[in-house]
Amino acid sequence: MSTYETILQRRTIRKFKQAAIPDQILEKFVNAARVSPSAGNLQPLEYVVVRNVELLEAVFKHLKWAAYTAPEGTPKENEKPAAYIIILANNSIGSTNVPYDLGAAAMSILLTAWEDGMGGCWIRACDKKGLKKLLGVSEAFDVDSVIALGYRDEAPVMEENDTDVKYYKDKKGVLHVPKKSTRTVTHWDQF
Ligand SMILES: Cc1cc2nc3c(=O)[nH]c(=O)nc-3n(C[C@H](O)[C@H](O)[C@H](O)COP(=O)(O)O)c2cc1C
Repeated sequence: MSTYETILQRRTIRKFKQAAIPDQILEKFVNAARVSPSAGNLQPLEYVVVRNVELLEAVFKHLKWAAYTAPEGTPKENEKPAAYIIILANNSIGSTNVPYDLGAAAMSILLTAWEDGMGGCWIRACDKKGLKKLLGVSEAFDVDSVIALGYRDEAPVMEENDTDVKYYKDKKGVLHVPKKSTRTVTHWDQF
């Protein structure tokens, strides 16, 4: 699969098969994040990888899923993620570009997971203070994002829509994700 194909096919996944992800694969995901672009190459991001069964359940309780389809979009007992990568920002480094570094790192994880037959959900609606305490994160770091990961157990579809941004589930439970058209978002030479 080309990078472009992976980018087009990747969708947010919120239903996962109940199979563990090997540690070396999780390490590969962190590695993809580690080498992502970083403003000034300051590299303020670090990662907590969670795959311990009790901790998985504890982290899950701190997350909010799929606001547009709530409560339907929250993974059920047999659909929960197999692992989390929690992205931390080191404040003592003083980067003014953490959100940009973070976007690049998160996307690297999501694309690498997709290419390897897995999927993920980038979650920012979470109890960051609670997660910081739960995971024993040192004072200098902020919890910013959680990437929920696992083997895909749903196949969301993308559809073009210039007027509605809300994703929805159809009668068969398939998630539909609207995206604005190329025509709408592209300005050739002049706006
Ligand atoms: C910065 C950011 C934060 C997000 N936070 C959440 C979240 O808290 N919970 C959730 O279920 N999805 C979250 N998402 C996933 C979006 O809902 C999803 O990317 C969007 O619906 C488009 O779907 P797609 O990823 O399949 O293209 C987040 C995505 C981004 C980029």
